[in-house]
Amino acid sequence: LAKQEAAGLTRRLRPRSGGSDLHTSLGGRPAVVFSSNDYLGLAADHRVRQATAAAALAEGMGATGSPLLSGYHEQTKALEAELCDFEDSPSATVISSGYQANVAVLQALGGPDAAIFSDQLNHASIIDACRLSRSQVEIYAHRDLDHLEAKLKTCAKRPVIVSDTVFSMDGVLADVGGLASLADRHGAWLMLDEAHATGVTGPGGLGAAAQAGIADADNLVRVITFSKALGAQGAAVVGGKEVRQLLLQRGRALIFSTGLALPSVAGARAALAILAAEPERVARVANHARHLRQALAPLDIPGEPGIPIVPVVTGDAERATLLDAALLDAGFLVQAVRPPSVPPGASRIRMTPTAAHTEAELDAVAEAVHRCWERLSYSQ
Ligand SMILES: Cc1ncc(COP(=O)(O)O)c(C=O)c1O
Repeated sequence: LAKQEAAGLTRRLRPRSGGSDLHTSLGGRPAVVFSSNDYLGLAADHRVRQATAAAALAEGMGATGSPLLSGYHEQTKALEAELCDFEDSPSATVISSGYQANVAVLQALGGPDAAIFSDQLNHASIIDACRLSRSQVEIYAHRDLDHLEAKLKTCAKRPVIVSDTVFSMDGVLADVGGLASLADRHGAWLMLDEAHATGVTGPGGLGAAAQAGIADADNLVRVITFSKALGAQGAAVVGGKEVRQLLLQRGRALIFSTGLALPSVAGARAALAILAAEPERVARVANHARHLRQALAPLDIPGEPGIPIVPVVTGDAERATLLDAALLDAGFLVQAVRPPSVPPGASRIRMTPTAAHTEAELDAVAEAVHRCWERLSYSQ
């Protein structure tokens, strides 16, 4: 802890008031939130609130056990059926968080006879999932399919390839079609984490695999989360029926943890119904992402134009912290992201426009970033 403090890298919690609304306050200071993953603005949607509250009153709170004990409810089954419809998938298995879903999938697909090939910049939950799967783990250079193929060629074990589809710190897309071709050529499972893609990209917000036209591949397993664009909590594993069987037999993170709470199941169902009925929200968040990137244009912003993860890379960790603090003073809650969440020298503030922001708010935060950035450059 002392070393972390000395390096200026201590992580701190910042309580906010006002619930999940975009307009919040921290210690009495009003701020517009630009650091949430609530990309479609559904966390505070009145229909999601109502469904969640009604479920709590009618059904109760906790799932009361692991899905294999008492924690699998008719409502959970109904959510899984709705996900199968939405995703056009043979099976969907609900699990309490995206983190656990990633762990459970790699526990189910991996093992001592398997080798997992994981992108260098995959999310921490995938890194931990690789470790907990007891597989050989091979890290390939970020989005480098030649490097991945070279590693696949020299591997004697059963291959599993795993990648984020939208990388959560850069807003960059994986080459999902290229990964699928390599998986086919090498007889590998392909696991895609669509946490930041569901509701954000692909036709009607179906994600990157649907966009690439590979969503129905037999060797594909996808993790989608309710905790980002759906504004709720929890996740699901989507894929073939045997994938569900494998999860129920071998996915320890699913088997040995309490099922998703009933109000959260109801919230996810309501949010999914809104996503299906109002695809214009997906177009709106993409437009907002483009708008914010354009407004920040003189700065070098990584990522895909329509993806609502907009990083302003400062390099230096202290600079990211100072920019975060200056933006809070200006009335915007953004988040400095520093090592080890990103590689050393790649500190940044990570901004996330949502469908619920107004264009005036996008322009205002961009103007504040320019102003604070200039002031920091001048004072250093
Ligand atoms: C790419 C990615 N996968 C998985 C997760 C974990 O999802 P959850 O927050 O539902 O546990 C996250 C969230 O931080 C994420 O960014």
